[in-house]
Parts: sequence; C-alpha cells; structure tokens
Amino acid sequence: MANDSTASLDPSSSSMNCGNGNFSYSKNSTLQRVGSMKANTIIEEVIADRLIIEKFSTSSNTVRIADLGCSVGPNTYFAMQHIIGAIEKKCESKGLSPSQFPEFQVFFNDQTTNDFNTLFTCLPPEKKYFVAGVPGSFHGQLFPSSSMNIVYSSFSFHWLSQVPKEVQMKDSPSWNKGRIFYASASDEVVQAYAAQFAKDFDSILSARGKEIISGGIMFTFMLALQDGCHPSKHILSFFLDAAGSILMDMAHEGLITAAQVDSFNMPLYLGTPKEITGLIERNGWFSIERLKFLDHKPGVDEPIEPSKHTAHIRAVIQDFIGAHFGAEIIDELFDRLHTNIAAHRDLHLSLGKAGVLLFVALRRK
Ligand SMILES: C[S@@+](CC[C@H](N)C(=O)[O-])C[C@H]1O[C@@H](n2cnc3c(N)ncnc32)[C@H](O)[C@@H]1O
Repeated sequence: MANDSTASLDPSSSSMNCGNGNFSYSKNSTLQRVGSMKANTIIEEVIADRLIIEKFSTSSNTVRIADLGCSVGPNTYFAMQHIIGAIEKKCESKGLSPSQFPEFQVFFNDQTTNDFNTLFTCLPPEKKYFVAGVPGSFHGQLFPSSSMNIVYSSFSFHWLSQVPKEVQMKDSPSWNKGRIFYASASDEVVQAYAAQFAKDFDSILSARGKEIISGGIMFTFMLALQDGCHPSKHILSFFLDAAGSILMDMAHEGLITAAQVDSFNMPLYLGTPKEITGLIERNGWFSIERLKFLDHKPGVDEPIEPSKHTAHIRAVIQDFIGAHFGAEIIDELFDRLHTNIAAHRDLHLSLGKAGVLLFVALRRK
C-alpha cells in the first residue's frame, strides 16, 4: 500500500531483502564481501599486535565477538570465521595448544526486522562458536558494560538512525524537494545530514565504549568519501540520484505523486576520513589503530554487469522504497535503473576516485 503522507521514514522498520530469493541480500552481497575481504590481512595484523589474549584467558576464557548490522549470511559467517582464525593464530604464536584456546561466542546483531530465521538456518555446520541473536539498533547499548572483546561491523555504520527531520519539512531551508539523497542537494541539506551522522556516530562510539573491555578492538567498514571530494561524485550518490530522478519521472507520468518523492529520503551518509577521525577523537573512548581506504572500487578495477550492480542496490534499498511508495512500483523502478546504469557504464571509472570503502580499526582505551 503506497504511503502518501510526509511522515518521516523509520529506518528500523526496513531492512535488506530477506530470504534466499533472486533479489535477496544473501544472493546479492558479493560486492560487499569482496570489499571487506580486502582488509583480512590488516585485521590479522591488528589482532596479532594489539589484542591482549591474557585479558580473556584470566576471566571465563571466552572471547565475545559481535557483528553489528550483520544482515543475512553469508558475509557475516566469513567475517566471524576469519576473526576467530586470527585469534587462534595469535594464541598459537603465544605457545598455547588448541586445548588451551578460548571458547568463542558470536552475537549477531541487526534491526528487529532483519531476517534472523534465514541467518540462523544457514549457519555453517562446521562453525566453531556459540551463537546468539541480538535484535535492536546499534545506536544504543546492546550488551552489558565491559562484556565484549571484539566488535565488527561492515557496511552498516553509514546508516543513520533517522532522516534528519528538517529535510522533510516544507517550510525549512533544508527541505530536500524532488530528491531522495543529500549528495546533489543544497548546502543546507548536506549540513543537516552531516549533523545527523555526527550525532549517530557519536552514539555508536559511546555505546561500544561502554560494552567493549579496555584493550578490546572494533573493526568497521563504511562507505565513505575522500576528503575534499563532493558527495555527488561518490558511486552510491550516482545510484541514489539516478533512482531519485527516475522516481520524479514516474511522478510526472502519474505513477506516484511528487509529494511522495519530496517526503522520501534515504537515511545514509558518506563521512570523510577527516570527519570520522574528528568524531572519534572528540568522543574519546577509542584510539585509532588503522584508518584507510581499501583498494575496492567495484566497476572500476573490473567490469561489473549492470544487472549485477542493479541487483546489489535493489537488495539494499527495495524495502525502503516499497515501504514508502508501495510494492507495485518496484519492478518498474529497478528496470529503469538498470537501463540508466547500463547507459552510464563509463561513468563508474571516474566515480571510484571519490573513495568507496573506508576501513577503521579502533582500540578501546
Ligand atoms: C548493507 S547491510 C550490511 C550487511 C553485512 N554486514 C555485510 O557486510 O554484508 C547493512 C545492515 O545494517 C543494518 N542496520 C542499519 N542500521 C542499523 C541499526 N541502527 N542497528 C542495527 N542494524 C542496522 C541493516 O538492517 C542491514 O542489515
């Protein structure tokens, strides 16, 4: 059922496409997996150099790891197995035998609307860890104080807790009329998004600061923008601006209303290294161990079929679009987006320069 109101989208009520179908996130998230695997070596280095294994062996000998915004597998299974492997390698290097290795408990977190059934049904049978599901927003505290050793999060912290209210208010200078994203909008809209990200990222850091033990580690991967680049030059902005102008075309054709487009905005933000570093330093709970763009530019290093790119973006945003505009426009919108992406293949080459994936490793002070 289409939503004609101007009510703000609630990000907690939408998630990645569930199940195992053709348009599901589990079948359309290989680009994210390839991206996060580019940091495998750095993750091993940080665990080898900075994780203090004596800290967990003196308590219950259990290592508690959380994946925040895990969605549905398989990316999260690979990531958790890799972290556990890196810790076991470190234990080995300290002379521990396998019988002295710690036990592992993995907490899979996502919004309550996430498809936890598929996530748990598809868990790898050979997994070497105990499993728990933790529904709820990572913008608040999810675990007891000082209970976690390692927190991991990939492709999730660029999601905002809400669309900034002023971009949806008709009488505000920040009203984002006729667009669904801030990247090509006025400075007022960009500022409203930046302020929301600053608030949200600070909440994320403070909540993790309470949950992670001193010396514990947090790994995150975020879609981000190179310092000094205009946000409209980012590949995510290309997709969302294209989707926004297709929606406006559909409004002109009477398939939806312009008011529906004016009242819809994606709750995503692309921080820059400078912005993110400043927020981490101001927050104060963590020291920065690594902060760097990974060499991951989908469509730039190797050609990607427009249908694959379209399916990946569909798996991520379909639920949000459907909740606001109604499910009946989805196929038409993504058919048109596919045509648009296919017509602009060369553009991807220049878009990679604006940065794609920022990797950050933090250590709890
Ligand atoms: C693009 S998916 C990334 C999934 C997985 N980490 C990966 O790398 O493939 C982003 C995930 O973050 C989740 N997410 C967004 N905001 C969240 C929040 N406030 N709390 C918990 N999960 C959130 C979404 O529901 C979604 O499953």
